[in-house]
Amino acid sequence: MKITKSKFEGIYWIENGKKKIATINLVPGYAPFGEQLIKMNDVEYRVWNPHRSKWAAAIMKGIKEFPLKKGDKVLYLGAASGQSASYISDIVGKDGKVFCVEIAPRVMRDLIFVAEKKENMIPILADATNPKEYEFVEKVDFIFQDVAMPNQAEILKRNSKFLKKNGHAMIAVKSRSVDVSAKPSEIFAKIEKSLKEKFEIIDKKRLEPYEMDHIVFLVRQKG
Ligand SMILES: C[S@@+](CC[C@H](N)C(=O)[O-])C[C@H]1O[C@@H](n2cnc3c(N)ncnc32)[C@H](O)[C@@H]1O
Repeated sequence: MKITKSKFEGIYWIENGKKKIATINLVPGYAPFGEQLIKMNDVEYRVWNPHRSKWAAAIMKGIKEFPLKKGDKVLYLGAASGQSASYISDIVGKDGKVFCVEIAPRVMRDLIFVAEKKENMIPILADATNPKEYEFVEKVDFIFQDVAMPNQAEILKRNSKFLKKNGHAMIAVKSRSVDVSAKPSEIFAKIEKSLKEKFEIIDKKRLEPYEMDHIVFLVRQKG
């Protein structure tokens, strides 16, 4: 087995016949989602499954940048039980913070269990369409948004007030959450146009074969 650094901070390639990505486990021995843990030279890696995380899928599809760093503050909209957010937590490390906004109380319960172990994750039961509900969140370097709602671009624009100058955001869009009858490419083009009003588009990746009719946009707040 070969483990090498990827070009993105905190993300590693694991090669063992198949190529996988992984992060360094912030809480060694802890694998709340049944993920594979691999130990090498006293370092424990957590395999990041692109079938279960759109950000991992975007990396596997060759997204140009993943500008997240150790110590970064992150606002995560639509954290669910914290699966993808837990990898973001590994990357920003103990000096970073991941503010995890989730609207559904049922998954929030699971998210709280994860955050009890991963202390840089802060669970917030709130509605991402109404940022006033979590105004206490500090300015962040990065926003991840995966809320599976029709007005995704609008939600990101509203939340961009939390972004530091030149901060980045990654947004995952499922075409069927926007309009079941329209063509995915038309839906994605409309969202891109709307995002361009406030953000510079750095890259975009369709997520097939990991997720059908999904796209991820990587954007930077316009100065
Ligand atoms: C596709 S799941 C997110 C999966 C998660 N990003 C991951 O990879 O582990 C979408 C989540 O967004 C949440 N959600 C939907 N609308 C929301 C809103 N207005 N505010 C906050 N969360 C919302 C849903 O309850 C659901 O848990």
